[in-house]
Amino acid sequence: MTNPHRSHWRLNPDIDFLNHGSFGATPIVVLEDQRRWIERLERDPIEFLGPERSLLPKLDHVRDCIAQLVGADSEDLAFVRNATDGVNSVLRSFPFAAGDEVLITNHGYNACNNAARYAAEQSGASVSVAELPFPIRSSSQVIDAIDHSMTSKTRLLLIDHVTSPTGLVLPVKELVELAHRRGVRVMIDGAHAPGMVPVDLRDLDADYYTANHHKWLCGPKTSGFLYVRRELQSTVHPTTISHGANTPELGRTPFLAQFNWIGTYDPTPILAMPTAIEFLSGLVEGGLSQLMRNNHTLVVAGRELLLDALNCSVPAPVEMLGSLASVPLPAERFGDKAAVNAFQRQLYREHAIEVPVFLLGGTLPCLRISAQAYNSIDQYQRLADALRTLTCQVER
Ligand SMILES: Cc1ncc(COP(=O)(O)O)c(C=O)c1O
Repeated sequence: MTNPHRSHWRLNPDIDFLNHGSFGATPIVVLEDQRRWIERLERDPIEFLGPERSLLPKLDHVRDCIAQLVGADSEDLAFVRNATDGVNSVLRSFPFAAGDEVLITNHGYNACNNAARYAAEQSGASVSVAELPFPIRSSSQVIDAIDHSMTSKTRLLLIDHVTSPTGLVLPVKELVELAHRRGVRVMIDGAHAPGMVPVDLRDLDADYYTANHHKWLCGPKTSGFLYVRRELQSTVHPTTISHGANTPELGRTPFLAQFNWIGTYDPTPILAMPTAIEFLSGLVEGGLSQLMRNNHTLVVAGRELLLDALNCSVPAPVEMLGSLASVPLPAERFGDKAAVNAFQRQLYREHAIEVPVFLLGGTLPCLRISAQAYNSIDQYQRLADALRTLTCQVER
């Protein structure tokens, strides 16, 4: 089956690429746009890169495009290299005092949970972990787990919009309301959200929100944004302190001045973002919203095939999925990290399928699929067939 959208990407046609979630994949038209930016930069590096010359208006133009997409004021969005950078900027700036707690979850991204541990350690604060179930029946289980884990010492909740290992779209609006009622600030790690699910930062009302452009918005690696509520912006600093700390003219506001220049860097992944958004918006009739719905429908159908092959019941309600979905694998077959790693390599080497396999919480083996415009249902069917074969191999 030929997917007409596939030709827009450079992905190896011999591989069923079912892992858009990890690093995204960038369409050719976006890479070409980035290439043009690189050539313009290299023709006249000082004129192009010098913030006081011509870089700032270009960044501000992209900022306006992203702000419109995620329902924010452009002044509240700084650019970062990636979501890890955004999370670190907030956590390492956060005014923790000894005895404070930061609340994270067991579905949080390891790098970001590490950042929380590091930032807490530096100031005598501690980290507590809310245990979200998986398999899960409803989003109210998430709300209950967070509610029960907050204490009078909790200062900050770090929560994913879409969880990395389990692909769950969390009830972030309800969680922000809950945390704010308890006087707790909320940092949302939305690494996967823009381009996968609708994002409206004004409505969400979180204190901090970061996301990647290079995942579901298909931008070049490395590019993302950090939103900070206006009244907190003077307290948040980039992970690299540079000229912006005492040169406010480097941005529309002192906050943006700090993030606009973090030492010499390549701004071309950011500058290619309007082309990425335009490309995704024009790919299917109905625009980006329809593309997100199509990807969701495809991942749900793909998951059905896998659940059937594994003889496994539904591990998460469809309403909690975007365009990622995880399924548990037989625990008796994949009991340790070596076994899941070997299985992932086997799927790649013997079946030409790229898909992540991992142990959730160090114990539950899972496999996660992604669905992007270039994927088609026959690819999940091939994965399901491979799983059937490999599961039979175990039973012999
Ligand atoms: C929830 C979440 N947060 C953060 C990240 C880190 O993204 P990056 O490596 O681009 O910073 C990921 C990557 O998959 C993720 O899934």
